[in-house]
Amino acid sequence: MGLKIVMLGAPGAGKGTQAIRMAQEMGIPHISTGDIFRKNLREGTDLGKEVQKYLDSGALVPDQLTCDIVADRLVEEDCANGYILDGFPRSVPQAEMLTRFLKERGEAIDAAINIDVPDEEIVGRLSARRSDPETGAVYNLIFNPPPAEIAEKLIQREDDKPETVQTRLKTYHETTAPIIGFYEKLGVLKNIPGSNASPDEIYKRIMIILG
Ligand code: AP5
Ligand code: MG
Repeated sequence: MGLKIVMLGAPGAGKGTQAIRMAQEMGIPHISTGDIFRKNLREGTDLGKEVQKYLDSGALVPDQLTCDIVADRLVEEDCANGYILDGFPRSVPQAEMLTRFLKERGEAIDAAINIDVPDEEIVGRLSARRSDPETGAVYNLIFNPPPAEIAEKLIQREDDKPETVQTRLKTYHETTAPIIGFYEKLGVLKNIPGSNASPDEIYKRIMIILG
């Protein structure tokens, strides 16, 4: 049986960077609620229209809406052997709903990996984040520079502007950080120091801690 993993950490902590690699190497899906919302925004779906104001301002999408989307995704066939949740849960009610949803199926989260990075480092990282709209690959102008030939087509996320980053950090500390304690109580919390170390180094730390 594959692992069911939750990635925790502030915006810009490196959840996506690590989750993509872990999912590839473990052969399980990477489920990012942020990616799902952004895809719907790009495609102009009803869901996209509904969530735009939250994403643009750095606020959280309402819990019930988010949980319904995740519940629909987790019953898909490719989730049978485990998955990596990135950016969900993000509030205590979401964590409670996920726990209940899994319990009803005789399941539980195996590990909650908390990548710990101080706010000062986050702001610099996010202002230098760029992504490839075609492949979804994520780069960093300072820490993980893109190949020169694709530099021109890269885009910056709307919510990576400094003012919005501040709101996202505030939302994180007020609403999301309390779920670290929630997973600690469940006995599955794994803390990973995520500061001043390369993505490769962080990946190694995660692999060691997962055994
Ligand atoms: P979401 O897309 O989840 O954004 P986030 O949590 O703010 O996280 P990020 O994607 O910004 O950061 P990350 O930790 O993935 O970092 P990354 O690996 O890219 O959510 C966006 C919005 O959607 C929310 O604000 C909310 O509105 C809504 N939403 C989503 N989920 C929701 C939910 N459950 N409930 C309600 N609303 C929800 O790395 C960042 C940068 O740093 C990159 O440039 C990367 O190359 C670089 N980097 C990575 N690792 C390192 C390293 N070790 N050293 C140096 N640089 C590094
Ligand atoms: Mg991300």
